[in-house]
Amino acid sequence: MPHEIPQTMGQQLGRRSWAEPWKIKMVEPLRVISREARGRALEEAGYNTFLLRSDDVYIDLLTDSGTSAMSDRQWAGLMLGDESYAGSRNFYHLEEAVRTYYGYRHVLPTHQGRGAEHLISQAVIKPGDHIPGNMYFTTTRLHQELAGGTFHDVIVDAAHDPQDLSPFKGDMDLAKLERLIEEVGAERIPYVSLAGTVNMAGGQPVSMANARALRELTTRHGIRLFLDATRMAENAFFIQEREPGYADRTIAEILREFCDLTDGAWMSAKKDNLVNIGGWLAVNDDAIFEELRNLVVVYEGLHTYGGMSGRDMEALAIGIEESVSDDHIRARIGQVRYLGELLTDWDVPIVQPVGGHAIFLDAKRFYPHIPQDAFPAQTLAAELYLDSGVRSMERGIASAGRDPSTGDHMRPRLELTRLTIPRRVYTQAHMDVVAESVKAAYDARHRARGLAMVYEPKYLRFFQARFEPLGAA
Ligand code: F0G
Repeated sequence: MPHEIPQTMGQQLGRRSWAEPWKIKMVEPLRVISREARGRALEEAGYNTFLLRSDDVYIDLLTDSGTSAMSDRQWAGLMLGDESYAGSRNFYHLEEAVRTYYGYRHVLPTHQGRGAEHLISQAVIKPGDHIPGNMYFTTTRLHQELAGGTFHDVIVDAAHDPQDLSPFKGDMDLAKLERLIEEVGAERIPYVSLAGTVNMAGGQPVSMANARALRELTTRHGIRLFLDATRMAENAFFIQEREPGYADRTIAEILREFCDLTDGAWMSAKKDNLVNIGGWLAVNDDAIFEELRNLVVVYEGLHTYGGMSGRDMEALAIGIEESVSDDHIRARIGQVRYLGELLTDWDVPIVQPVGGHAIFLDAKRFYPHIPQDAFPAQTLAAELYLDSGVRSMERGIASAGRDPSTGDHMRPRLELTRLTIPRRVYTQAHMDVVAESVKAAYDARHRARGLAMVYEPKYLRFFQARFEPLGAA
């Protein structure tokens, strides 16, 4: 019998393979501890993957935040750090990069995204205000609430359905927004909070058409439109791929067109912008900038460093430029999709379509026998770690926290476990190992019993909460 010719993955999938537009210059060894040791580590961590030591983790998919690999150009940029207290030349480089690629007039550095969220919330939200947004994000909503505001989710219904295949599940529902404006009055809405892609919905994108309609609606009511630009370069990829008229436009052009529809943005530069720490806040309005520039010296640092060192601002300025490269984004999202395709082939329930930064396992369908109050997504994160040392993150009832008015759990429709892919860090072989571990956890799903929360911190409880297993396996 003739030998069967081995096929490449691309041939098996009926298309040509792609490869990352970089090669590896430096490596960081990984180690995997025994299953027994993982069991001990998990118990010590209160079954919360945030409380594990990274030395006990094999493949770390906790987050794509601050976990990316910098390029040789960024590392070289660190050597060009100008650590002057005031007026560092690296700040001006950063300012120029934000102005060029995101298009806003005024730029302030912050130590990370939530530093920027804090400042914008304090500057424009008054007690009793209402802030509509396309699904909550944990830190964003908390800063809006701490400033006295109430967050309202006005995302399209499709976003809450993990099996709905709509191409832009991050879009705002304009009718919901109109109703809220009628109910509370435009004067009680300091801004509309738009994020692309939408993290808690599964990294789902917002269309340009929706942003345009939103701009028109908010202008008509005299309401500002602010953007959480954390993963907007990835959002631009989906517009290029799915929205008529954008196939021939570059990521950079699409990003700029989108941002030009908004009045300002905050940024966790630890994601799209390819740095390990940093953020920025940018607005067009002179009066708001005046207030923000004053506030930044209270909470972050002088307005030309805002919590960042000069070298970090240099690496960020270079990272911004690299992050809008079409080849980079295609490979980045391509790797996430590769993992998604494997899991889809094996009938593992995940959020579809696959989004930009992560695979989100649908814990409600994974563990239909575990009630939401027994933390199915948290349970799945623990089981995955036990199986292989792969670290993931809960994005369900624990992350959603409690309703500030009733004190009860908020019970989001989406109960997800996130496998978040750092940028430029892991290879296709790592993705294979991860997929096989998820498959093993899925095959053993009937044995999982759920968790009880035994310690609950007041703010952003998912970071530090502790759990104990319910019943014996
Ligand atoms: N906005 C979005 C959409 C985010 O995903 C994050 C962080 C922030 C704001 C806050 O930025 O962490 O720099 O203070 N998300 C991380 C994650 C923590 O794992 O999804 P930060």
